[in-house]
Amino acid sequence: MPHLPPLLTLMLMVACSTPDQGAPALSAERQQLRAEGVALYDRVSWTYQNRNAAALARQLTQRHSDPDQVMGLLPLEPGDRVADIGSGVGFFTFRLAKAAGPEGRVLALDIQPESIEVLRARGKDRVLNPYDNVESRLTAVDDCQLEPRSLDMLFMSHLGFYLHSELMNENVTMLACLPGALGPDGHLVVLEYIPPGLTVDYLVPNFEAAGFQLHSSQYFEKHQSWLFVFRPTGKEAGE
Ligand SMILES: C[S@@+](CC[C@H](N)C(=O)[O-])C[C@H]1O[C@@H](n2cnc3c(N)ncnc32)[C@H](O)[C@@H]1O
Repeated sequence: MPHLPPLLTLMLMVACSTPDQGAPALSAERQQLRAEGVALYDRVSWTYQNRNAAALARQLTQRHSDPDQVMGLLPLEPGDRVADIGSGVGFFTFRLAKAAGPEGRVLALDIQPESIEVLRARGKDRVLNPYDNVESRLTAVDDCQLEPRSLDMLFMSHLGFYLHSELMNENVTMLACLPGALGPDGHLVVLEYIPPGLTVDYLVPNFEAAGFQLHSSQYFEKHQSWLFVFRPTGKEAGE
């Protein structure tokens, strides 16, 4: 596929790998798939440090999600307060902000300064951000900077949580602060590209351990992506 940029070629390599449904979780093939996934994640992170980050992010995220379909499934009402955690350059952030409407607001958080910089520049576009209701913050993996009970929905899209234990471990502290940031009727939505042969089993227990229970899930076959909706268990949310 010489006409494709390297990032997309790598994504196709991952996506086209043969699944082995019956294999043990850590078979050689799965380890290889996971290694390719980690390489992909590194490449994705790299793209956000470049001038054309928004275009690259759009290519990437659109390839693995139908944004209109995803938006239509979110437990999001006008006036809601939302955090887009790992916002990147705002592929979903500005869609969330439009859906939250003039009375709502979206907090975009990312650990990459370059992503926040590009997102802020994009946020000045009143077509993209008509209600000027997006705030952005640079965060750290061990500090999510969310006020208790301040939000109606947390949204996390394509953070690569399924990939490997190191990536997950880095985010454990951040995940632990999430349930308490939601109000009693709040939801956490996780959208993840999970190529064939990798397992969703890795993802859900980590969110359960952080104080959430799975409310619903949906698989988008075309985009090889899962949408998980979690609710705080209550105990961790201070119930
Ligand atoms: C693949 S990009 C996805 C961006 C965006 N959500 C989208 O769907 O286009 C993953 C982003 O998550 C950010 N990220 C990873 N771990 C994070 C964490 N613990 N807190 C905040 N951002 C994080 C990365 O810096 C990167 O910008």
